Amino acid sequence: MSALFQPLRLREVTVPNRVWMPPMCQYSAEPEGPSAGVPSDWHFAHYAARAAGGTGLIIVEATGVSPEGRISPRDLGLWNDTQVEAFRRITSFLRTQGTVPAVQLAHAGRKASTDRPWKGGAPVGPDAHGWQPVGPSALAFDARHPVPTELTAAQIREIVGQFADAARRALDAGFEIIEIHGAHGYLIHEFLSPHSNQRTDAYGGSYENRSRFALEVVDAVREVWPDDKPLFFRVSATDWLDEGGWTPDDTVRFARDLQAHGVDLLDVSTGGNASGVRIPTGPGYQVPFAARVKAETTLPVAAVGLITDAEHAEKILANGEADAVLLGRELLRNPSWAQAAARELDGAVRIPDQYAWSI
Ligand SMILES: Cc1cc2nc3c(=O)[nH]c(=O)nc-3n(C[C@H](O)[C@H](O)[C@H](O)COP(=O)(O)O)c2cc1C
Repeated sequence: MSALFQPLRLREVTVPNRVWMPPMCQYSAEPEGPSAGVPSDWHFAHYAARAAGGTGLIIVEATGVSPEGRISPRDLGLWNDTQVEAFRRITSFLRTQGTVPAVQLAHAGRKASTDRPWKGGAPVGPDAHGWQPVGPSALAFDARHPVPTELTAAQIREIVGQFADAARRALDAGFEIIEIHGAHGYLIHEFLSPHSNQRTDAYGGSYENRSRFALEVVDAVREVWPDDKPLFFRVSATDWLDEGGWTPDDTVRFARDLQAHGVDLLDVSTGGNASGVRIPTGPGYQVPFAARVKAETTLPVAAVGLITDAEHAEKILANGEADAVLLGRELLRNPSWAQAAARELDGAVRIPDQYAWSI
């Protein structure tokens, strides 16, 4: 029996297989006006195709809890009811395919307000629908990015509230799982890492203080998110810095804290908070970080990063290194990867009746 095609039950939600799609921004929403942050036909077609392709769980791309929380002015959002309505069309279609709909709630912090990657990805100002970014400390990500405005304690409380409001809307929109974006150098990660957090109040300094904002967000979301629905958290397990950064040891400790606060699965990525670091990429290069959390805690984990091959994915699960695999760019290349892998590994996967001829 293929491990990749075993269902996974988390709280009261059963995911039909372990082939999952990680959040991937499409930068395809309107930047301003009544359609700002609203999923478009592009989003519907994009997610629908991966669901029809047998993907067990789809985590919809980083979705801003506020306009200022978007990575780019073209990001999706969940700060109003027009957005909720448009997401419903996507979640209900995913359900018809047996795919579990999840959404990543995000605040981009000091790396907010950038252009679309295919336009160069540079920070943009108000003349190009941008805004002044915020962060835990007045430290720019790199020479190209602006110095963010340091958040006050009242503003931090406001953002925690925005995460809770977005979580309520996610429920309304039909999502079964929320993932909190705590990775890649965005706001929550910026608080966690001493590289970007040099605060001297209750939100900076010690590990307890640096993780306070993340855990407040988790608590606020968990409070409005039903007990029968799972909550995921995406972490960058390392800043890839020799010193002065967030480390794999911190991640293991943090995983235990997250679990105690009601998180059901850790999505283990790396990097994004320190510019100019060398990252030794290669097939499955982030899997060891997930495997370590799995070995040293009782929190389920998902592995991500250059997993493209069915046998490799199967081995990661069979070796007990992760509970699920997330395939990003590979699912951009091949929306039906899950069905191809099921053929290769002799696993069972849903194929839409309309495509029965393809078996
Ligand atoms: C186009 C694109 C957009 C992405 N957007 C997000 C995002 O919204 N949130 C996030 O946590 N990671 C994002 N990522 C990272 C992916 O989720 C994933 O971790 C990364 O691509 C590594 O997996 P892969 O090698 O299978 O592509 C993005 C990656 C790509 C290629």
